[in-house]
Amino acid sequence: MKSILTQRATRRPQSSEDWKLVPLQHRGVNQSALATSNTHGEWFIKICRDPGSVPDICEREELASLLGEMAEVPVVDAFCVPTATFGAVTELFPLALDLMTDRCVAMHRIAGSTVSLDPEGASRFIRSHPDKLADIFAFSLWIGDEDRGLDDVMLENGSLVLIDNGLSGPGRSSVLRSAHPAECLYRPIDVTRMCFPFKKSFVEFAIRRLSEPNRQLAVPKVIDRIAGLRDTDLEQAVLHSQLPPWMASALVQRRDTLRDDYVKWLKAAADLS
Ligand SMILES: Nc1ncnc2c1ncn2[C@@H]1O[C@H](COP(=O)(O)OP(=O)(O)O)[C@@H](O)[C@H]1O
Ligand SMILES: [Mg+2]
Repeated sequence: MKSILTQRATRRPQSSEDWKLVPLQHRGVNQSALATSNTHGEWFIKICRDPGSVPDICEREELASLLGEMAEVPVVDAFCVPTATFGAVTELFPLALDLMTDRCVAMHRIAGSTVSLDPEGASRFIRSHPDKLADIFAFSLWIGDEDRGLDDVMLENGSLVLIDNGLSGPGRSSVLRSAHPAECLYRPIDVTRMCFPFKKSFVEFAIRRLSEPNRQLAVPKVIDRIAGLRDTDLEQAVLHSQLPPWMASALVQRRDTLRDDYVKWLKAAADLS
């Protein structure tokens, strides 16, 4: 854990760099820009809209990234940093409205497509690596991720990477495992397909590409890795991401029931095929 945090500190973008900024066309609800520095490379910057009940959306992106690293699941390298790190980013966006401008999510820029733009590439990866898909699903169930559409997974050098993790991480809902604010719109099937009702679900897409999902997804190795994470590691990860201690308690509890939870989830999810 210590070496992960030390390594992350060296990757975290710093205001001392000489950043060049270019605003990007963004189809989602948030605003984005590309920040480039000679020493730190290219970063995809996301300025988030305040989704009301999830003011910690940027911090949750960082937590998901850190937990992904701890569990060895491919989540985009993401940091919650003061927007001023990159200079006058907010001046790029005249229609700022309800954007949270004090901090932003800085992510490793992925030079690749989303699953919705490259379904063939995604299918190839899924068919040849069902074990990695199983790890992604078990990890998503553990942290609480129910907003995983085809635009929220990218391909980098032919492998899947999870992006857009701001509504994941435990929430307070009794219906959802995540922090998605639109709890009332979710039907039980949407919880199984881990996706907002009006979006195409990555879970559904991926399960339909497997010939025997029940068998191919039965034993995610990541469950053992998550079981090996200590309470103190999870407490430290939550604290490091500037999130409240109850989230660490929720992750500890779910770590201890993950094997059973996954069996139940897979039983329901395999019916999506
Ligand atoms: N780290 C990244 N590198 C490159 N492109 C990205 C990255 N993160 C997001 N994108 C692109 O921006 C789009 C919107 O990003 P996303 O995080 O899903 O934003 P929103 O929260 O607004 O849905 C993605 O579908 C993808 O095309
Ligand atoms: Mg998105």
